[in-house]
Amino acid sequence: MTETHEIVVEKVKESKIGNIDFDNLTFGKTFTDHMLECTWRNGNWENPVIKPYGPIMMEPSAKVFHYGQAIFEGMKAFRDEDDNVFLFRPEDNWKRFNESAKRLAMPEVPEEIFMYGLKKLVDLDREWVRYGDGLSLYLRPFMIASENGVAAAPSTEYKFMVVMSPAFAYYRGDVRVIIASQFSRAADGGIGYAKAAGNYAASFYPNNLALEEGYQQIIWTDAASHEYLEEAGTMNIFVRIGDKLLTAPNNDRILNGVTRRSVIQLAQDKGIEVEVRKISVAEVKEAAESGELKEIFGTGTAAVIVPIKGFKHEEYTHELPVLNDSYASDIKESIKDIHYNRVEDKHGWRVKV
Ligand code: COI
Repeated sequence: MTETHEIVVEKVKESKIGNIDFDNLTFGKTFTDHMLECTWRNGNWENPVIKPYGPIMMEPSAKVFHYGQAIFEGMKAFRDEDDNVFLFRPEDNWKRFNESAKRLAMPEVPEEIFMYGLKKLVDLDREWVRYGDGLSLYLRPFMIASENGVAAAPSTEYKFMVVMSPAFAYYRGDVRVIIASQFSRAADGGIGYAKAAGNYAASFYPNNLALEEGYQQIIWTDAASHEYLEEAGTMNIFVRIGDKLLTAPNNDRILNGVTRRSVIQLAQDKGIEVEVRKISVAEVKEAAESGELKEIFGTGTAAVIVPIKGFKHEEYTHELPVLNDSYASDIKESIKDIHYNRVEDKHGWRVKV
């Protein structure tokens, strides 16, 4: 990677890190001292700037506020016991970011800006990456349409930014889900596979209804028939029936999760049979009734791996058993060992900062 874009660095006068209680972090609420900002103007990316984290100035007519032309990524940096700092599979996030950009008619961000900028930013705020079980620095690269004017057409100006937040895993309590039979997250030919802000906004109302019933998340099903499991919005989904691990295939409605791919690989490394195929709701309910349904778990950067304690589908409810030989726990330990540099990085997923 070459540094053809000079990065201008403007440091904070005084770090706020001394005021942070790293044992009591609420996900996504605390931000580090610095952020990265890079503007696309006149068909080019200008030089990125690293500057103190703080408000940005935009006019109310900026297109992002009207048409939701906005995408993001979720990534993490980890510190090992010897104070080395690593990113986890950052290239995969960069590639997916640009796939999202393409679908939302936004300019792609070159590798040197995304990767070099990210590394420089993490390096500058490396004290914010703490070593501790489940602790990480959550990185949030995003891009918004910043051109002023409300014509419904792609923006001619964009801001690519990165903000960073020290965090534990996203879910810290039990997670029960509703399997969707009414609302949909994504449809064929749509933007479900992209990390587009609108995908998340669209899920908030049905998710609020689920919360009112005591369920923390929704497992979305295909919009056409509501017969097949897709993903959970904040996570991809795995189902264990007997000794087999199942997950839905990628398509244009499902996010191609980096953690999902890592989990498939780690499960296969352990000799677990993984089937990437359509999973019907009927099959899950049948397996629940016969006792063959052992586990359901979600995977994602923010969430890492989250066991689902129970689910509801229409009037049917089911509680998952507590297992001594849980695939979710076993794979989670393995992925954490890689995150924190406790084992050899067989697949080349760690990138040192
Ligand atoms: C992530 O896992 O990074 C995500 O983007 C999910 C987000 C809703 C917290």
